[in-house]
Amino acid sequence: MMTLRKHSLSMYRSCRVGAVLLLWALALAGCGMFEGPPTHSVGHSYKQIGAEEGTHLRYQDPDRYTWQYPERVIKALKLEAGMKVADLGSGTGYFTFRLAEAVGSSGKVYAIDIDAEMNASIDKQAVAKQIENVKTLLAVEHDPLIPEKVDLIFSVNAYHHLKDRADYFRNAARYLKPGGRVAIIDFRKGAFRHYTELKVLLEEFKAAGYALDKTHGFLPRQNFLVFSLAKN
Ligand SMILES: C[S@@+](CC[C@H](N)C(=O)[O-])C[C@H]1O[C@@H](n2cnc3c(N)ncnc32)[C@H](O)[C@@H]1O
Repeated sequence: MMTLRKHSLSMYRSCRVGAVLLLWALALAGCGMFEGPPTHSVGHSYKQIGAEEGTHLRYQDPDRYTWQYPERVIKALKLEAGMKVADLGSGTGYFTFRLAEAVGSSGKVYAIDIDAEMNASIDKQAVAKQIENVKTLLAVEHDPLIPEKVDLIFSVNAYHHLKDRADYFRNAARYLKPGGRVAIIDFRKGAFRHYTELKVLLEEFKAAGYALDKTHGFLPRQNFLVFSLAKN
């Protein structure tokens, strides 16, 4: 009887360990920052087997800190208190809450995604962290649908998801305040399976009517470019 109970207990423990390992494997296998079978492509929302938790784990993985340098990115954006920022393709909010801190309670961050599950994750975090200057917006594929003009449209690892990008940003110009900027961070060729070539990025923004303001070279895996509307 005793041996049987011990056996069941050890079976239960190994099942539990197995389940945890399986969850992690699923979390690492989708789109995002790790290698694995592709589960998203240009123009599609990212879905990770319907597992909001897995997506959150992946985007917020502590290893990301070692190459994403979030504080340096935020500093480089030179945000000021009271500014309005659109975090385009905000996912589970890796940058959203850092942007919100940078613009302060008088500012506002629109967390914009076409995936309602991502927005729900951000809403949940905002409530838990008692953050009031973040507002999630459900966008459509070809338009961020921002309800007012912003100082900055910021987008990390989402550019390669967008379709007809020159048209997209030509249209998005109407959401920029005078002097407003667009900052794009996306993987370099060779750094990750999904990427945007620098040449392509520059050509598309030129075609959309923007001029390159700044190139930040400190991110090891990604291009980090800042544009503003070209003066005619
Ligand atoms: C790889 S995730 C990046 C998330 C976040 N920016 C980060 O760095 O952790 C890309 C996000 O872009 C979203 N996305 C894809 N196409 C989009 C579109 N047309 N408009 C807005 N968001 C989009 C996806 O749903 C996904 O949440």
